[in-house]
Amino acid sequence: MGSVTRFLDSSIGRKVLMSLTGLFLCTFLIVHASGNLQLFKNDMGLAFNQYSVFMTTFTPIKIVSYLLYATILLHVISGVRLALANKAARPVSYGASKMPGSSSWASSNMMVLGFIILIFLVTHMANFWYKYKFGDVEWVKYEVSVMDGSVIGKTTMPSAPHMQPHEYVVNDGVSAPIKYVIVKDLYSVVQLAFQEVWIVALYLLGMLAIAYHLVHGFQSSFQTLGLRHPAIAGIIRNLGIWVFGIIIPIAFASMPVYFFFFA
Ligand code: HEM
Repeated sequence: MGSVTRFLDSSIGRKVLMSLTGLFLCTFLIVHASGNLQLFKNDMGLAFNQYSVFMTTFTPIKIVSYLLYATILLHVISGVRLALANKAARPVSYGASKMPGSSSWASSNMMVLGFIILIFLVTHMANFWYKYKFGDVEWVKYEVSVMDGSVIGKTTMPSAPHMQPHEYVVNDGVSAPIKYVIVKDLYSVVQLAFQEVWIVALYLLGMLAIAYHLVHGFQSSFQTLGLRHPAIAGIIRNLGIWVFGIIIPIAFASMPVYFFFFA
């Protein structure tokens, strides 16, 4: 066994792996939440649908996506292995090492919180990601004013095999030039999913679990990596609480709530 493999298989190695993969997933959450804010634009879903095309076709982002799937798997697998090893060694679960200021409830329930997030994630990927990539999401054609970028109309399109998202401008020199944008209508898939009360409830529960999991996990990962110097401990703690415990979960939770009640 090589020294890296041996290190990753040790208890501290697994914790380092959990920290690094966890911090990478935290970064993903910031990007994902910011991108999804396009859902709130008053443009019949055009910006969100164009953003989805960019996320699924731009090669560097596609590569990062594969890294993301691998990271999720690694984080889950090493979390379970660490918890089982801890359980065998002593009757205290992963993350139960108390540190000043950490939420003790969250720290001793990281596995349960992680499991709720996993159930959320599997449902989430099945509802949106799988449907977008492999399901039969409807194609739509947007009519956009070239002058001011406003969306004039949206019509459904008959889908054809091997159809690709594209756009073109029609300028006949008589009427104002119009841009046509042809994309898959993922916006409507999201809108429809968030009419279901159980999906909204699962998302709210998922966001609560994410908030608790990350408030503890974010600062715990800095401790594991030896980066919790007293001079920055307060900053890390506040970042964990404000960004990952409050802002990100509220941003995500506002999406199902908005569609359920207002759209
Ligand atoms: C209400 C909040 C959310 C909405 C509306 C939403 C929406 C979407 C949509 C439409 C997709 C598929 C399209 C795409 O790949 O760009 C997607 C993918 C994904 N979502 Fe979310 N999401 C939300 C929250 C979350 C949360 C909290 C997590 C993590 C815990 C998450 C993790 C993922 C992952 C891992 C993917 C696959 C990304 C990829 O293939 O690159 N999402 N989400």
